[in-house]
Amino acid sequence: MIEFKGASVVAPDTGVTILRPTTLTLAERHISIVGANGGGKSTLVRLINGLIPPTEGSVEVEGLNVAKHGAEVRRRVGFLFTDPSAQLIMPTAVEDVMLSLRRSVKNKDERTRAALAALEEMGLGERADVSVSALSGGQRQLLALAGVLAVTPSVLIADEPTTLLDLRWRAHVGALLRSLPVQLIEVTHDLDSASRAERTIVIDDGGIAFDGDPREAIQHYRDLMFGRAARQAPPE
Ligand SMILES: Nc1ncnc2c1ncn2[C@@H]1O[C@H](COP(=O)(O)OP(=O)(O)O)[C@@H](O)[C@H]1O
Ligand SMILES: [Mg+2]
Repeated sequence: MIEFKGASVVAPDTGVTILRPTTLTLAERHISIVGANGGGKSTLVRLINGLIPPTEGSVEVEGLNVAKHGAEVRRRVGFLFTDPSAQLIMPTAVEDVMLSLRRSVKNKDERTRAALAALEEMGLGERADVSVSALSGGQRQLLALAGVLAVTPSVLIADEPTTLLDLRWRAHVGALLRSLPVQLIEVTHDLDSASRAERTIVIDDGGIAFDGDPREAIQHYRDLMFGRAARQAPPE
């Protein structure tokens, strides 16, 4: 369970409000978050694992205040970025997963076996010793996911995990994410994927514009976008 208690984010340099005070309880197994670019989606989800601290208010994960128990929270909350290169560090796939396992599996042979098993599960068993740079974008995202899951988080935050992927990989990664035994909080522009959640939150202009049934949420988002486009002068 994740709780936002009046959490807000103000840019320290400009004083601009990025996220207005937000109070939320996130308990559903699969929650999707949609909204226009720059609305504050990444800011909202980054508060959950402490990548960004709230300016006011607080966020709690399973009763732990994220600002006070960052390390413990990050063991429970995995974070998958849009661009897997942001979280792949080692030269080969197996080494990268082994790096994620370094705390939980002390023995090196055991760690190698665990990493290979994790890669196998992602369908990357044959790519274990291949250079990370030789993997396709989809394979890289799966590798990043293997690394995140290696520490058995109970919550997985995925911030536009499929935005860079083609349709086939998007479907594959999306289905895989939904099948995982974790609470999934997925920021996405893939409205088909968003609609499969139990609950959808629409973020707009630094606040929650809608929160509830996925179909209604997506309709709300569409109205918001087309309404806005109609009010604005078309670009030159
Ligand atoms: N560190 C920062 N300082 C100032 N503005 C920021 C900072 N981080 C994000 N922003 C701004 O806050 C807004 C929301 O950003 P973000 O949460 O990344 O939106 P989204 O993920 O919905 O595209 C954007 O206008 C962005 O430019
Ligand atoms: Mg974002």
